[in-house]
Amino acid sequence: MTSTTPKKVRVPDLALMKQRGDRIVMLTAYDATMARLLDRGGIDLLLVGDSLGNVIMGLDTTIPVTLDVMIHHTRAVARGANRALVVADMPFLTYQVSLEQATRNATRLFQEGGAAAVKLEGGRAVADTVRKLTAAGLPVMGHLGLTPQHVHRLGGMRQQARSESAAHELILDALALEDAGAFAIVLEAIPDTVAEAVTSQLKIPTIGIGAGSHCDGQVLVSYDVLGLFDTFAPPFAKQYAQLGQVIVRAAKDYANDVREGLFPKINTQQPTNQRSCRPPCDPSPNDSHLRQASPRIARLKS
Ligand code: KIV
Repeated sequence: MTSTTPKKVRVPDLALMKQRGDRIVMLTAYDATMARLLDRGGIDLLLVGDSLGNVIMGLDTTIPVTLDVMIHHTRAVARGANRALVVADMPFLTYQVSLEQATRNATRLFQEGGAAAVKLEGGRAVADTVRKLTAAGLPVMGHLGLTPQHVHRLGGMRQQARSESAAHELILDALALEDAGAFAIVLEAIPDTVAEAVTSQLKIPTIGIGAGSHCDGQVLVSYDVLGLFDTFAPPFAKQYAQLGQVIVRAAKDYANDVREGLFPKINTQQPTNQRSCRPPCDPSPNDSHLRQASPRIARLKS
């Protein structure tokens, strides 16, 4: 499957992509507008990552992100996505307390959020949960290596699986997740060689972030890719645009125009786009039905 394939991406497609050697492309998304644009750009999977704690909520860690917040953003992304498969992160401590708790919370992401899959962090410690959710019909993506929800135990956001024994443990975790039914695994911030070993030992695809080029796919935080999040740029991320600068420029130009009385111009035709046309800013005298529909416009015209 390539980005030009219009067919909707489904969970079983990922294993087929690995078999065919087609690279899997995943980005994070947090709202409907961005989801629609990234979907149009041919991204295969949209991850509603709990990284929204950092880039949307301005938090230092993902730990305070709640299930309700994840459902809210997943619902928006699911509305914007057409072709891409929507995966939602299960937030911190919403799946570790008991199998019942995990099932109940994952179900909410599917039923209320419209997710097609959930992602959870951890290896053998969460394998029973992965088995239970998968058996219940809820597809699960794993996440190994640097798992940001474990930031305090790990002692910071640093590369994992650096020693031979840690690499061996990570491979055992990956095999356990595959055995439990996970359909893919994110490998974050581990040496390329370890990611290569995991990728070659698994039938399910690996999706790397800071894990080199041997994974079956790649994921990045969209705000890093688009140059929107300038507080911190991970060394492994690549900026494909500098939208932060574009936004600052546009805000400055708008502020200047308003302050100088250049916007809005009296008797100037407003630019029309889909949004401003619903309802129109300036209905013609014959548009009485629109004026009825929009008391605000009626007030403006009277
Ligand atoms: O939350 C997130 O955005 C993630 C990706 C970085 C893999 O888990």
